[in-house]
Amino acid sequence: MHVITSSCFLLLWMHTLTSVKSQAAVNCRNPVIEDGVVPGNVNEYNENDVLSYTCNPGYKRVQERDSRCTNSGGRSAWIPTPACEAIKCELMLPPVIGTIYEPSYRNRFSPGEKVRVTCGDRYWISEGRSRSRSAETTCKEDGQWTIRPVCQEVACSRPRDRYLLHWGDSWFQQKKLGDTVRYGCRSGYRRTDRATRATCTRDGWEPNPLCQEIPLCGRPPALEDGDVKNTTKERYNHSETIEYMCQSYYTMEGEPYRTCYNGKWTGQMRCLNPCVANEDEMRQHNITFKSNDYNKYLVHDEIIEFKCANGLPVGKVAMRQRCNSGVIVLPTCREDLS
Ligand SMILES: *[C@@H]1O[C@H](CO)[C@@H](O)[C@H](O)[C@H]1NC(C)=O
Ligand SMILES: *[C@@H]1O[C@H](CO)[C@@H](O)[C@H](O)[C@H]1NC(C)=O
Ligand SMILES: *[C@@H]1O[C@H](CO)[C@@H](O)[C@H](O)[C@H]1NC(C)=O
Repeated sequence: MHVITSSCFLLLWMHTLTSVKSQAAVNCRNPVIEDGVVPGNVNEYNENDVLSYTCNPGYKRVQERDSRCTNSGGRSAWIPTPACEAIKCELMLPPVIGTIYEPSYRNRFSPGEKVRVTCGDRYWISEGRSRSRSAETTCKEDGQWTIRPVCQEVACSRPRDRYLLHWGDSWFQQKKLGDTVRYGCRSGYRRTDRATRATCTRDGWEPNPLCQEIPLCGRPPALEDGDVKNTTKERYNHSETIEYMCQSYYTMEGEPYRTCYNGKWTGQMRCLNPCVANEDEMRQHNITFKSNDYNKYLVHDEIIEFKCANGLPVGKVAMRQRCNSGVIVLPTCREDLS
């Protein structure tokens, strides 16, 4: 409480003092400025007038602030003192962590002079849009460096891959060199190079690009003695499935589907031939169908029974046969002449 009260008094006192002093006549004269000029021919200035002056080429004002005609301790003076100095570029010494300068012993450079900036292991320097381990910066006429001579820790910001679907971290969280993040790609795309995580490197996120298009499949392969049920297209997306069927009397072996997988059709099947009982051959083997219901066309695996047209069965071939992928074995009969 005591402190606050006394500073209030101090302020009040200072205010009074200023009011009294401002009543004294204040006027300034044209200053002589080394390496600078005061244009025009004004010779006298009143209190608070601003001095307009320019520095010679290659020089700049020591103080950015305007110089005003001010009462300073009972005298009129330009404050801050108008002065010009040679333009120099500056370096921070010692450099910020991860930054090495060459030369390393000076911190003021004239326009045209160059400094090599080399960054530490986990640092880089921005040269326009690209970033590198080392860069040469030149002092410009205006006292600025062509490249800001400061190395920054390598960081990866939000990835810009447009096929990215999910990112296992905050989108806005900057990541450091070597950090990894889980991610997933949009449908129709997959993580490049079978990567499971994205890694922050000097060259940005890797793999690059994070997601790549899963190749399409072309026309589905033909099936011997069969066909595709769906109407077909020129191109199929990953995981599209088509169904096959066999011609009539043919039998499907395997699942009747093919699926487009990473640009290739998967799925194996074939159409098994039906059997045709050849009547000429049956006659030569001295056999007929056991029943009149039998059709001479048999699908795969269908069973048929024969009987002797005359005589008795000979050999080991049974009268009951199964159609096996187009092949049917005929039994034989013969009259016993012995
Ligand atoms: C593949 O899928 C995308 C959407 O995921 C669709 O726009 C495109 O038409 C599909 N292409 C084909 C050949 O079906
Ligand atoms: C083809 O037809 C089957 C059903 O018969 C269906 O499940 C499948 O999605 C169809 N495929 C295409 C590419 O239309
Ligand atoms: C069919 O029967 C006849 C008369 O018995 C016989 O000569 C012939 O060899 C038989 N056919 C076959 C293929 O055995």
